[in-house]
Amino acid sequence: MALRTLSGVQSSGRLHLGNYYGAIREFVRMQHEGDALYFIANYHALTSVKDPLQARQLTFETALAYLALGLDPNKATLFRQSDIPEVTELYWILGSVVPMSNLERAHSYRDKIENRGITNPEFGLFAYPVLMAADILLYDSDVVPVGKDQKQHLEFTRDWATKFNVAYVTGYDPQDPTGEKSKKAGVFKLPVERTRDETAVVPGRDGQKMSKSYGNTIDLFAPDKEVEKQIKSVKTDSTPPESPKPTENQPLYDLLKVVLPPAAFADADKAWRTGGDPKTNGYGYFKGLLLDGYKQEFGAARQRYNELMKEPAEVERILKAGAEKARGYAAPVIKRVRDAVGL
Ligand code: ADP
Ligand code: TRP
Repeated sequence: MALRTLSGVQSSGRLHLGNYYGAIREFVRMQHEGDALYFIANYHALTSVKDPLQARQLTFETALAYLALGLDPNKATLFRQSDIPEVTELYWILGSVVPMSNLERAHSYRDKIENRGITNPEFGLFAYPVLMAADILLYDSDVVPVGKDQKQHLEFTRDWATKFNVAYVTGYDPQDPTGEKSKKAGVFKLPVERTRDETAVVPGRDGQKMSKSYGNTIDLFAPDKEVEKQIKSVKTDSTPPESPKPTENQPLYDLLKVVLPPAAFADADKAWRTGGDPKTNGYGYFKGLLLDGYKQEFGAARQRYNELMKEPAEVERILKAGAEKARGYAAPVIKRVRDAVGL
C-alpha cells in the first residue's frame, strides 16, 4: 500500500511562520509521495474559538492558506475535520482505552493551565489528544508531519493504538505490530511523526516559541503594513551597529536562518559576525533583509491567497470533494473498529 501521510492545523487564528516552517512546508513536500491527507482541525479549534462567525471565517482562511501555500487538491486530499462524522465516533471509542493519567500529564494541556492563564479548563481541552489520535488512526496513517510540540501527542496515539490492538485482537503481539510473524495484524496501524530538526521550533519576535497565543508572531497573510510592523518589532539587544553581533538567543538571527535561502543567509551571517559598516551591519539592516526574504518566500502565496478569497464556492467544492475521499479512506477502518468492539 502507498505510504499515507496525514496532518492537520487548527483553525484557531492567523497562520504564522512557525506553522509554515514547522508543519505546512512539509505537507507541501510530502504531497508528492503516496497518499497525502491534510485537514483543517475545526473541531479542535472550538476549544479556543467561541464565536461562530469567527470559527467559520478561520476555517475558510485556513483552507485558503493551504491552497495558497502550495497544497494541490489534485494531489492531496484536503478536507474539514467536521465533515467526517466517523472521527467523533472513533474519538469516543478510543476514550474507553485512554488512561486519564496520560491526559493529565499532556504537555500542551499542562502548558495551557500552568502558563496561559486557563483556570477552569473544559473537557474538550483535556480530551484534545484523544480527538487528535482519532484523526490519525481513522485513516490508517503511516507518517504525521508536525512541529516538535506535537511529538507527545504522537506517542500517546501509538500507545493507545497498541493498547486497543492488544485488548481487542487475540494473539496480537506489540513487538510485531504488522503481524508479520503472528499473522495477527492490529485494528490500528501505528503511525510515526516526522519533524525536521533545523526548523523544529521557529522563534517568535520575543525569542519564545512563535505562537499565536504568545502574541509574538510574524503572520503569513496579514496586510503588508502589519507584517512590516511585526518584523520591525523583533527583539534585539543594544549591540552598536558597527560591532560584531552575538548569535545566541537572538530571534532575529534565528529567523534570518529560517527564512533566507542558504546562500543569502551565509552572506548575512558573515556581516552579522564581523560588524563594520553601520549601514550594513546594524539590526535595522538585518530586519530589512528579513522583510525582503519574507517577501520573496511568501509574495506569490500572498497574492494567490487574495485571489482565492474571492472564490469561496470553489474552495467549498474542493473541501467537499476532499471530505468524500477521506470518508472513503475512513470506511474500512471504522468497520474494523466497530467489529472489534462489538457495535
Ligand atoms: P500555535 O502555537 O500558534 O497555536 P498550532 O498549535 O496551531 O500553533 O500549530 C500548528 C502546527 O504548526 C503544529 O504542527 C505545530 O507544531 C506547528 N507550529 C506552531 N508553532 C510553531 C513554531 N513556533 N515552530 C515550529 N512549528 C510550529
Ligand atoms: N494538534 C495539532 C496542532 O495544534 C493539530 C491537529 C489536530 C493534528 N489533529 C491532528 C495534527 C492530527 C496532526 C495530526 O497543531
